[in-house]
Amino acid sequence: MTADHITIRRPDDWHVHLRDGAMLSVAAPYTARQFARAIIMPNLSPPVTSIDAARAYRQRIITATEGRAGGAGFTPLMTAYLTDHIDGTMLAEGHAAGVFTAAKLYPAHATTGAAHGVSDIAHIRGALAAMERAGMPLLVHGEVTDPAVDIFDREAVFIERVMAGIIADFPGLKLVFEHITTAEAADFVMAAGPNVAATITPQHLHINRNALFAGGLRPHFYCLPVAKRERHRLALRRAVTSGSPKFFLGTDSAPHTIGVKESACGCAGIFNAPHALESYAAVFEAEGALAHFEAFASENGPRFYGLPLNQGTVTLTRDGVTVPDRLEHGDIALVPFHAGETLGWRLS
Ligand code: NCD
Ligand code: ZN
Repeated sequence: MTADHITIRRPDDWHVHLRDGAMLSVAAPYTARQFARAIIMPNLSPPVTSIDAARAYRQRIITATEGRAGGAGFTPLMTAYLTDHIDGTMLAEGHAAGVFTAAKLYPAHATTGAAHGVSDIAHIRGALAAMERAGMPLLVHGEVTDPAVDIFDREAVFIERVMAGIIADFPGLKLVFEHITTAEAADFVMAAGPNVAATITPQHLHINRNALFAGGLRPHFYCLPVAKRERHRLALRRAVTSGSPKFFLGTDSAPHTIGVKESACGCAGIFNAPHALESYAAVFEAEGALAHFEAFASENGPRFYGLPLNQGTVTLTRDGVTVPDRLEHGDIALVPFHAGETLGWRLS
C-alpha cells in the first residue's frame, strides 16, 4: 500500500438487491465490476422461496453479468426468502445442493418487498432449527413492524423483542444482523458470540438522518432501516474501523427508478452500487483506518460464511471520481448515492 494506491484482495458484497428484468441488466454490471461475489437478496415479486426459483434467478444474474467483471467472473450467492410457511427441509436441501448460501428473514411488511415475510418467529422455528443443523446462515432485517414503535427505534427494539430470543434459542445458528444502523446493534453484535456478525452499508457510514431533510425532503437518502442520529453513524464508523472480524461489507444497494423515489409515497432504497467500494474507501481514509479496509471488504465476510478468500486484487487510486447526478440506461433513470459529489479514491 502506498500513498497513491490501495491494492486489496478482490472484495465481495454481502448484501445487494439486483432486481430482475430490465433493472437487473442495469444494476448487476455495477456490482460485478467491483465485487467477485455478492449475496443476492430474494425480495423479488414474487419472492425467491424455492430451489428452482433461486437456480433460475441465479442464471438470469449470470447472463446479465457475463463479460462485465473484467474477465474475472462474478458469482451470485443466492438466498431463500423466509415465509411463515417455509419448509426447513427444503432450505437444508437447497443449501446442501449449493443453491442457497443463506436465508433471509424479513419481518412481514418491514420494508420493500417484505409483504410475504415472517409474521411471527414462532412460524419459522422448525426452519431455524434446520438451518442451525445445516450450518446455513440466517440474514436478518432487524426492525420491528409495530406501528406504536417510533421508526427510529425499530432496530433497537428488535434486538430486545426478537433478536435476543433467536440467539438464545438457536445458539449454534450463524446469524448476520444486516445493514445495522445503531450503536445498540453494533454493541450487540460485538458482545455476541463468533456466530453473530453484521453488514454495514456505505450510506449509514456517510449520512445521518439530517440528510433526509436537508433544505427539503430528500427521497434519494431514504432507505430502510432509515439513517439514525449522528451518534449512531459515529458508532458504525468505529465498528468498521475497529478491525473486528464481525463487521463486513454489505452495500444494501437497492435501485428504484427516479419516478418511484420522487413520489408522494417514495420507495425505500438507495442505489449505491456504482461507487460502493470508493464510498467505503472514503470512510476508512477519513478515519485513518485504511489498514483495516481490506479485512472489512475482502476477508471478514468469506471467513464468516466459511467460503474461500478471492484470488486476484483490485486497486484504488487517489485521483478521485466524480459521481454523476443521474444514470440513464434506456428507459431506466436512477440517482446514485453520492450524486454530484467527488470521492477521493477511484477504482481503476
Ligand atoms: C430494500 C429494497 O428496496 O429492496 N430497500 C431498502 O431501503 N434497503 C429492501 C431492504 O433491504 O430493506
Ligand atoms: Zn436490503
